[in-house]
Amino acid sequence: MSYPYQIKSLEEYKTAYKKSEEDPEGFWDDVASHFVWRKKWEKTLDWNFIEPHVRWFLGGKLNITESCIDRHLPAMGEKPAFIWEPNDPNDRVRVVTYNRLHKRVCQVAQMLKNNGVKKGDRVCIYMGMVPELVYAVLGCARIGAVHSVIFGGFSAQSIADRLYDAEATFIITCDGAYRGGKDIPLKNIIDDALIGNRTVKKVIVYTRTRTPVSMIKGRDVWWEDEMDYAETQVEKDGVVHFPAEEMDAEDPLFILYTSGSTGKPKGVVHTCGGYMVWTGYTFVNVFQYQPGDVHFCTADIGWITGHSYICYGPLTAGATSVMFEGVPTWPDAGRFWDIVDKHKVNILYTAPTAIRSLMGFGLEPLKGKDLSSLKILGTVGEPINEEAWHWYDEHIGKKKCPIVDTWWQTETGGVLISNLAGITPAKPSWATLPMPGVHPILVDENGKEVTEKDEHGLYKGNLCIKNPWPSIIRTTWGDHERCRTNYFATYPNLYFTGDGALKDEEGNFRITGRVDDVLNVSGHRIGTAEVENAINMHADVVESAVVGYPHDIKGQGIYAYVICSHIHGDEEQTRNNILQTVTRVIGPIAKPDKIQFVSGLPKTRSGKIMRRILRKIAEGEKGNLGDTTTLLDPGVVEEIVKGKL
Ligand code: WTA
Repeated sequence: MSYPYQIKSLEEYKTAYKKSEEDPEGFWDDVASHFVWRKKWEKTLDWNFIEPHVRWFLGGKLNITESCIDRHLPAMGEKPAFIWEPNDPNDRVRVVTYNRLHKRVCQVAQMLKNNGVKKGDRVCIYMGMVPELVYAVLGCARIGAVHSVIFGGFSAQSIADRLYDAEATFIITCDGAYRGGKDIPLKNIIDDALIGNRTVKKVIVYTRTRTPVSMIKGRDVWWEDEMDYAETQVEKDGVVHFPAEEMDAEDPLFILYTSGSTGKPKGVVHTCGGYMVWTGYTFVNVFQYQPGDVHFCTADIGWITGHSYICYGPLTAGATSVMFEGVPTWPDAGRFWDIVDKHKVNILYTAPTAIRSLMGFGLEPLKGKDLSSLKILGTVGEPINEEAWHWYDEHIGKKKCPIVDTWWQTETGGVLISNLAGITPAKPSWATLPMPGVHPILVDENGKEVTEKDEHGLYKGNLCIKNPWPSIIRTTWGDHERCRTNYFATYPNLYFTGDGALKDEEGNFRITGRVDDVLNVSGHRIGTAEVENAINMHADVVESAVVGYPHDIKGQGIYAYVICSHIHGDEEQTRNNILQTVTRVIGPIAKPDKIQFVSGLPKTRSGKIMRRILRKIAEGEKGNLGDTTTLLDPGVVEEIVKGKL
C-alpha cells in the first residue's frame, strides 16, 4: 500500500498548501477519495463560525472501521496491526494481526448488540491499556455507538459526571489495570461512579488483574463469556462477518471530555467522516509513515493522542502500532528504550514531560539498548524546551532522526501545526508550519491581526484558525452554546485555540502555552476552576485560588492558595486531607504540587481574584508584581509573598 496523499518534498508541501488555500473543496475531495466510503458525499463543506456550523462530506456514507480494518484484509490480513507490550516486561507480548483485529471487533460489535446497544447509544469505556480497549473502541464504531473513553486516572466522581452528561447507557471496563507497580481497581471505581446513576443498563467487565470485583446481578456481565457467545454468531465455517453500520459522515463517532476554563469538563464531539480523513492524512504526512514501519505512540488511549495516533490514524494507513500498557519508569527508566530495541520501533511519538523525566536519569538507562531502528521522533502535548529537544535529538535520535513537534488539541482531532518529518525543516521548540488546509492567524486582545513585530523580530499573539479543517470540533455534547462561547465567541469568525504563539518571518509558529485558565501538567489539561471547586469541597476550606508555575519535569505544576476556616491538627495533615479530596473529586492527576495556607486572597474592589499577582508569586517573583493599588486589601499580597512555598 502506498499513500497517494503523502507529501514527499518541500516543493510538494508548498503545492499542497497552495491548493488547499485556492481550492479547499477540491483538495479535500481528492484526499477523502482514498478512504472507504459506502456512498460518496454530495457536498464537500458547509460552514460558518457564527453558530458555529461545520459539516464536511455532506451526504457521504461510511463506517470508519472499513477504512481501518476491512480494506486491509485481502492484502495484509496477517500483518500486525498492534504489537502489545505488557506492563511487566516478563509477560507475553501479544501481536494482533489485521485478521485478528477484524475478528475481535466483529465479536465486540455482536456482543454489544446482544446486550442491547444501538446506533447512537453512548458507551463509556474505562479500561487499562490492553488490546481489548481498542477492540471496544472499534466495536462501538462498528455498530455506530458513540464511544467515550475515560482515562484511568479519573475518580469515580469524575466518571459519574461524564456518565450523566453523556447519558451513557453502557460501560466497558476491566477488573483492574496495571500501571507500573500499581494495580488500579477500575471496576470498584466504576461501582462507586454508578451509585445513584439512572442511565447505565449494562457493565461489561474484562479480566486483567484478577482483582476481586462485585458483579451486580442483571447489570454486570463478563467480557469473556459474552465474547465467547458472540464468536459463535460472527464466525461461520472459518469466515468472520459482522456488517458494519452505515453511518453518515456527520454522525458522531466519539465524545472525549476535556478541561476548559470553566469548572466542568466538556464533551468534545468528533464525527465519522472528517475525523477519519484528518487522522489518516496527518498520520501519513507528519510521521512520513512507510508501509512496514513500526510506530510507537506512548500516549494513553484515554487522551486524544491515543485515539488519533495509536488507534484511528495508524489503522487507516494499515500501519503497525505498538501499544504499551505500562509507564516509562517501571521497572526502570530504560523501559521505552527496551521497547524500541525489542520491537524495532521506527517512529517514536511521546511527550516532552516524559523526555524531561527520562533525561533526569542520565545516560545509564540507555546503555546496551539498540536504538538504531529509529527513523523519526515526535513530541506532543506541551511546548518542548530546547534542552529536552537537543537531548532527544542527540541521545535518542543520534542526530539522524527528524523530530516533529506536533501542535494540536482534543478539539482539533489531529495535528494542525507541525513539521513533516524530514520534508519540511525542523526548528527546536517550534511547531513550525501549518498542515495543508490550516490557516492560523495571531490576533491581539481585540481580535485584530498582529502585524507589528516585537523586539525579537517575531509576531506575538493569541492563536486562532481562520477556516474549518475536516476534524474540527463539531459541538460540545448536549450544549452547543458552550461550544460557541468557548471557541467561537472570543473573536468573531475565528476558532480560538486558547494558546498563545509566536510567528517568525518564514511563517513558523512557536506555541508558548495557554493564555486562558487552563493548566498543562505533564501534558494533561486541567482547568484551574475545576481544581478550585474540588479543593473548596473540603469541609475546612473557605476559598481557594489555583494557578500554574513552571515545573522542571511536568512543564507546569499546580499551586493552590487556600483559606481555611480553621486547621485541624497540623498544617501537613490538612494539606494531605485536601489532596485526598482532590483525588476523590477529580483524580490523582489534579493534585496540587503546593498548597499555601493564606488568610486572604488579592481581590479587586468588585471581588475578582487577581490571578495575575498570584501567578507571579508562584513563579517566584517578589518585587515586580504589577499594579496592586486597585486591590481591596494590598496587605494580603505581602503576607502571601512571605509565606511562599
Ligand atoms: C498544548 C493534546 C506546545 C496546547 C494533543 C494545547 C502543545 C493543549 C503542543 C491541548 C505542542 C499540544 N507545543 N503546546 N506541540 N501540543 N500543546 O487537548 O496548550 O490534551 O492547547 O491535546 O496542549 O491539549 P490536549
